[in-house]
Amino acid sequence: MHIFYGKASLIDYLKSIKTVQSTIGFVPTMGALHQGHLALMQKSLLENENTVVSIFVNPTQFNNPEDLAKYPRTLEEDVKKLTALNPNIILYAPSVEDIYDGKPLSQSFDFDGLENQMEGKFRPGHFNGVGTIVKRLFEIVEPTNAYFGEKDFQQLQIVKKMVAKNHLKVNVIGCPIYRESNNLAMSSRNERLSTEERDEAAIIYKTLTAAKEKFATNSTATISEWVQKSFNKNTRFTLEYFVIADEATLLPSTRKNKNKKYRAFIAVLVNNIRLIDTISLN
Ligand code: PAF
Repeated sequence: MHIFYGKASLIDYLKSIKTVQSTIGFVPTMGALHQGHLALMQKSLLENENTVVSIFVNPTQFNNPEDLAKYPRTLEEDVKKLTALNPNIILYAPSVEDIYDGKPLSQSFDFDGLENQMEGKFRPGHFNGVGTIVKRLFEIVEPTNAYFGEKDFQQLQIVKKMVAKNHLKVNVIGCPIYRESNNLAMSSRNERLSTEERDEAAIIYKTLTAAKEKFATNSTATISEWVQKSFNKNTRFTLEYFVIADEATLLPSTRKNKNKKYRAFIAVLVNNIRLIDTISLN
């Protein structure tokens, strides 16, 4: 497998293999690869001549230093997984220095308000960090298509907005959430959960599917109250937010309009580990 630790050699290599017709698929990740990441890569491999994967734990998108310090870093295992999936994958695993040239700071973005909801409220500066790194990686890799999981639905909408506002020539493709056998959405942070926490985390998707069932006949306020009460009874998991929002604007919805698409979004904390999930409601 081709592994690059520096952007200059990656850019040279990509130039050497690029042809007029060939496309580059790109899957940006922070490593600790799981089946959800591999599914994004499989889609990219099917749809493009070349697939670039990046592994970079981006410091500027972490608002919580403990979360950054404890984020799993498993490059050796990740390389094995990538090689087994397809040895033609091109891996870019840069250092902080290679990306930020000594200044690991975020650019400030205007995402038309998408950044002020949900994760934006609870993780100040997070989306400026995501916008900064994704724009930087797009400039280095110059992908034709880029693949993102729908678990981070707000991130996906924000990346689409950033691409549109900066007139970048890349198609941003959202891909379905991959789930563990108890329906917990796959996430690199799941590795930090104990066995009991991981089992009991089934409550997150159960809550979302119950909310979906209730959506046809109940108001959004009634559903939100029901979710809050269910979590009040739970001693292990703390609800950070549950929001029903318009899929396009991400604004919380109090009324339902049959021409709009809605989603429920949830974030919970267990033992200082944050887990998020989302479901389409109509
Ligand atoms: O979703 C992630 O893993 C990260 O936010 C991303 C898109 C790789 C940027 O660091």
